[in-house]
Amino acid sequence: MTVSKDVDKDVDKGVSKGQGKAERPSQELRILVVHGPNLNLLGKREPEIYGTQTLADIDADLAAGAKDLGIEIEFIQSNHEGDLIDRIQGSMGYADGILINPAGFSHSSVALRDALVATGVPVVEIHLSNVYARESFRRRSYVSAIAIGVISGLGAPGYRFGLEALVKRLRA
Ligand code: DQA
Repeated sequence: MTVSKDVDKDVDKGVSKGQGKAERPSQELRILVVHGPNLNLLGKREPEIYGTQTLADIDADLAAGAKDLGIEIEFIQSNHEGDLIDRIQGSMGYADGILINPAGFSHSSVALRDALVATGVPVVEIHLSNVYARESFRRRSYVSAIAIGVISGLGAPGYRFGLEALVKRLRA
């Protein structure tokens, strides 16, 4: 079991080779966790909506969950749409499933959705807040229809629930 904190190196390796494939060091399930824009500010950003846990706290909890589940997990965060797309493409042949909080790009990015579909792996979409109980523009997510499931409004624990559900689906 390997828990790595940042997939940049391996994912970039896949992209730079132009193969869309990175090496697969083991047979354990590999989950890529993708955090979208402004989630690097968690803990400071609108805590009444998003809670007080930092992104590092959430990743640490997911890493503990990955250990319990006996899987490999890697994390990326970016505020840039193209960067997220490059990294998702770079995970092809490498990640068995994707757990993503697309954040603001949920509501705007067809390109991000297309990249997720291109991977061909199951996707679980997470939102800390209940996007259906907020402004109307948050009710539409381009990702939801291509996700196997969506967790919205359960705060930081929602990531762990999403990880468990994704792994359960992959093992079914
Ligand atoms: C969010 C909800 C989005 O509407 C918002 O743009 C975010 C965070 C959430 O986790 O609740 O940045 O994805």
